[in-house]
Amino acid sequence: MSFPRMKELQLLCLLIFGGQSSLACPHPCTCHGSQVDCSSRFLNSSNLPSIFPEGTTELRLHNNRLTTLPNGLLDNLSSLRQVSLYRNPWACDCGVLYLRAWLRRRPGGSFSSQLHVNCSSPAHLRGRLVEYLTEEEVLDSCHYWYCNLALTSQALLFVFVLVQAALLVAVIVFLRRFEKLSREARRTKEESLTAGERETVYLPLTDRSS
Ligand SMILES: *[C@@H]1O[C@H](CO)[C@@H](O)[C@H](O)[C@H]1NC(C)=O
Ligand SMILES: *[C@@H]1O[C@H](CO)[C@@H](O)[C@H](O)[C@H]1NC(C)=O
Ligand SMILES: *[C@@H]1O[C@H](CO)[C@@H](O)[C@H](O)[C@H]1NC(C)=O
Repeated sequence: MSFPRMKELQLLCLLIFGGQSSLACPHPCTCHGSQVDCSSRFLNSSNLPSIFPEGTTELRLHNNRLTTLPNGLLDNLSSLRQVSLYRNPWACDCGVLYLRAWLRRRPGGSFSSQLHVNCSSPAHLRGRLVEYLTEEEVLDSCHYWYCNLALTSQALLFVFVLVQAALLVAVIVFLRRFEKLSREARRTKEESLTAGERETVYLPLTDRSS
């Protein structure tokens, strides 16, 4: 009698929580009810779980090594009430845009996530609260990055062009020298030919004159 009821209950659970994958507690974390604790686990962007249980109301991510929050990570967690993100070395470059947008979307007072979510890098933004970074400040770092890349490629291109020019000059010099050599060779050949002709011409002349 009790066995089919168990099955019914399991089915009900599955229906309520929507699938096993969203029920499971993500690997290095511990879960208590709808509270998911991933704090102090040396998490960085490569070993951070990519999915959290759907009904999560509290997510602890503080005291880790996160420099960026992967795009869309918290978007499907509609029950989320609290997220702790402090004591992570957030990098305030292009990669911070999702975190910043997410923090800004939250209603400020009731949500304590914003507390101490501050930048570790770059140096000139260290200690600044991520939520209050201006778009220009973030985009500046992006431009900076792109600028460096552009400058590097320009420098490489310049070196490349210089090498090309040097090679071209070398080829021209070589061709000139080759041309000169072949001209000289031709001239000496002609000279020896004309000299030979002269000889053949002069010989009878000298013969005649003598
Ligand atoms: C993330 O942490 C793990 C283990 O702590 C380490 O092996 C890995 O190299 C780290 N990845 C990055 C991108 O720092
Ligand atoms: C969020 O949910 C939608 C549909 O349920 C899914 O397509 C998407 O991949 C999910 N995003 C994340 C980051 O889990
Ligand atoms: C930045 O965060 C650390 C903890 O992560 C905190 O001790 C510090 O006071 C914060 N700085 C500012 C300016 O909020």
